Amino acid sequence: MKSWNLYKNHRLFTGTVFLGFVGLSTLIAVQPAARMQADNAPLPTAEALTPEQQAGLRVFIGEGCVACHTQQVRNIDMDQRWGTRPSLPADYAWHQRLDVWRATPSTLGSERTGPDLTEVAVRQPSDLWHLLHLYQPRSVVKESIMPAFPWLFQDSVAGTPAGLALHVPAGFREPGSHVIVPTRRAQQLVAYLLSLKQAPLPSGTPPTAFLALSPPKEAAPASRTPAGNAAPALDGAALYTTNCQPCHQANGEGLKGAFPPLKGSPVVNDKDATLMVNIVLQGYNPRPEYGVMPPFATKLSDAEIAAIISHERSTWGNAAAPITTDFVQKIRALVKPEPAL
Ligand code: HEC
Ligand code: HEC
Repeated sequence: MKSWNLYKNHRLFTGTVFLGFVGLSTLIAVQPAARMQADNAPLPTAEALTPEQQAGLRVFIGEGCVACHTQQVRNIDMDQRWGTRPSLPADYAWHQRLDVWRATPSTLGSERTGPDLTEVAVRQPSDLWHLLHLYQPRSVVKESIMPAFPWLFQDSVAGTPAGLALHVPAGFREPGSHVIVPTRRAQQLVAYLLSLKQAPLPSGTPPTAFLALSPPKEAAPASRTPAGNAAPALDGAALYTTNCQPCHQANGEGLKGAFPPLKGSPVVNDKDATLMVNIVLQGYNPRPEYGVMPPFATKLSDAEIAAIISHERSTWGNAAAPITTDFVQKIRALVKPEPAL
């Protein structure tokens, strides 16, 4: 007769350990995951990824972008710059296994060597910018430490549709390359990046708040619509660096084939700055030889726009008069409000 002594009966011993393992796994991992899955669904406002964007997600995972980029807006105030609301489980509900061999991709990330990408399509809607940046980050962001991904591009000498060729500034091309053309994978990756924006919460949902963890700032932030010119003087050069420089560059010369120069631009130097204010508020894309300029109406206050425009009108040899906050405010009042994102 087998004894019930665990030390003597190896079957009893292995059986007990196995049951313990199965029990604990179910309790700690399987059951919570199943409940999470049953309780989760994409927001009704969320758009599913197209097959092209899905393929881009695979490239994103395959190239290891997640090592340096998160896609999670935490509910603490320092994350407010990465999204309009904290991320929710519903934002990730469409994630599925890539295939039989590869698990569901985790795009959350845990390290921010580079910026969070939750809303990168809102900050950076230009596909040309993304292509140049992937080919050689230093060509658009001078101090960037992001690695280049030249293998997502090919050097095509003959038989390439001219429309696809990238205008890479001299000095940033791989040695010996001629016409630089994005591969399918690069195009899919950019399609994926341009899909990254937060789905708005369904109307009627109370807004989710950010927790205030950082100590309050000394001066109150400039109000969205400051009265007259009483607002504190803003640093137009610093605002330019944050908002406009990624595309129009530090020297104001832009990049051929992607972003027009502001240096010497007739629009910037026009005595009447109405068109320029409209461009900054509403975005701009009349010319096929350039990419898309994003609208800044909801991102910048009137005072900030006045400071940036005044800076641009008086830098790089431009010599037009500064504009006032009132002027921007008047034009904003005429512009119909942007549809909520
Ligand atoms: C070694 C870390 C690292 C890796 C790997 C990396 N990045 Fe970056 N990334 C950065 C840094 C740092 C920046 C900020 C400087 C800049 O804009 O180039 C950045 C910026 C960006 C931006 C601009 C974000 C913004 O808010 O303007 C995008 C888009 C981006 N990366 C996409 C990617 C993609 C796609 C991949 C994978 C193909 C990738 N990155 C891989 C470090 C990295
Ligand atoms: C994502 C890249 C991007 C960013 C960021 C950006 N722009 Fe632009 N901007 C463009 C592109 C592209 C055009 C040209 C669009 C066209 O003509 O089709 C343009 C055009 C302009 C023009 C018209 C110039 C001319 O001569 O026609 C002005 C003025 C301008 N931008 C100002 C700004 C200011 C001010 C900011 C920052 C608040 C800014 N831009 C940020 C991409 C950008």
